[in-house]
Amino acid sequence: MLMIVIGTRPEAIKLAPVALAAAADRRMEVAVVRTRQHREMLDPMIEHFGLPVVADLDIMREDQGLAEVTAAALTGLARTIAELRPACVVVQGDTTTAMCGALAASYQRVPVAHVEAGLRTYDRQQPFPEELNRCLTAQLADLHFAPTVGARDNLRREGIDAARIHITGNTAIDALQHTLATLPPPAATTGRQILVTAHRRENHGEPMDRICAALRALVDRFDDVTVRFPVHLSPRVRATVLPRLDDHPRIELEPPLGYPQFVQAMRQAYFIVSDSGGIQEEAPSLGKPVLVLRERTERPEAVEAGCARLVGTQTQRVLEHASALLTDRAAYDAMAGAHNPFGDGTAGAKIVEHLVARFG
Ligand code: UD1
Ligand code: UDP
Repeated sequence: MLMIVIGTRPEAIKLAPVALAAAADRRMEVAVVRTRQHREMLDPMIEHFGLPVVADLDIMREDQGLAEVTAAALTGLARTIAELRPACVVVQGDTTTAMCGALAASYQRVPVAHVEAGLRTYDRQQPFPEELNRCLTAQLADLHFAPTVGARDNLRREGIDAARIHITGNTAIDALQHTLATLPPPAATTGRQILVTAHRRENHGEPMDRICAALRALVDRFDDVTVRFPVHLSPRVRATVLPRLDDHPRIELEPPLGYPQFVQAMRQAYFIVSDSGGIQEEAPSLGKPVLVLRERTERPEAVEAGCARLVGTQTQRVLEHASALLTDRAAYDAMAGAHNPFGDGTAGAKIVEHLVARFG
């Protein structure tokens, strides 16, 4: 049996293609376990993809610290692994749930497969704690599914045996294609809409404050521009964003959107401003420029492809880059015309083939 561990919104989206391909294959039994590190932001994703959840650890508590999330996920997952006795535990990305899934499995000598392996900024503070989580997970994993050649090369430099690494593309592209196929063409918008998300821990507090100032200044500078900002449920994020932006007539703050609704919002947007990891992967497929609210990225492929630009969180710098995209059509077209470097939408099937070959 494959045990697939899901804790947060992006893990559900990116493990759905693996879980669905494995469930359809029938050469291996599959069990999805959700820690529910996220609750309201996770459940609609599980429902959208119809994932076969067999166990729910329900660990989310309002504004809990990293140690609390880790302790609850680790002990809960250890118990579940002891009950289910899977042949392999599959984790994705760089969340605390992923790291705990890998550790809990390793403690019980159950092999670990890591989806989206090998992403690195080589800066432990950015993103925090994700860089720590993915490095730790790589130490524990037996199979590493790298989305790109660059991710594979990072793992090789860390001494990981080439035979344990498979380049598959990113399952985010599979999920995106699957969902795009179910959507009607996007409705036209009046004026130009900028879609914003922000949630990284290193951006909590002052950086978030500066981002909000840049967004306000931007809509004040361009009167045909509206900002659409589905605000993450983290109380740290909301404490800054809501009081600073909720009174502007052309800034629409909303709860997090369901995945199909968010994909549609990306298609409707003129461009995207975000500190998200997954959105950097999705934007190139949709032909949408993305200004990345970070100083470093573990997804240099999006920057190299020309679709993403690192703009940090200084108000003036964010404002200048966003203004340039709104006024310089050639610069906009160059970013919007970039190609997708993250795979062809077959990552889930490739991963399942490797898992069946090894554990089936
Ligand atoms: C987590 C991941 C991050 C990932 C992000 C995706 C870690 C350490 N961080 O960050 O890598 O990019 O998810 O969004 O694993 N909350 C709710 N309802 C929800 C979800 C969150 O109320 O459905 C609130 C809770 O108060 C929770 C807080 O948000 O304590 C923070 O959640 P947490 O999972 O600790 O961190 P994220 O910032 O969401
Ligand atoms: N997303 C969503 N609704 C939203 C915001 C984002 O469905 O309101 C999706 C987005 O398309 C992407 C994923 O959530 O697939 C990214 O999640 P997030 O930014 O929370 O985490 P990260 O990718 O930074 O780990």
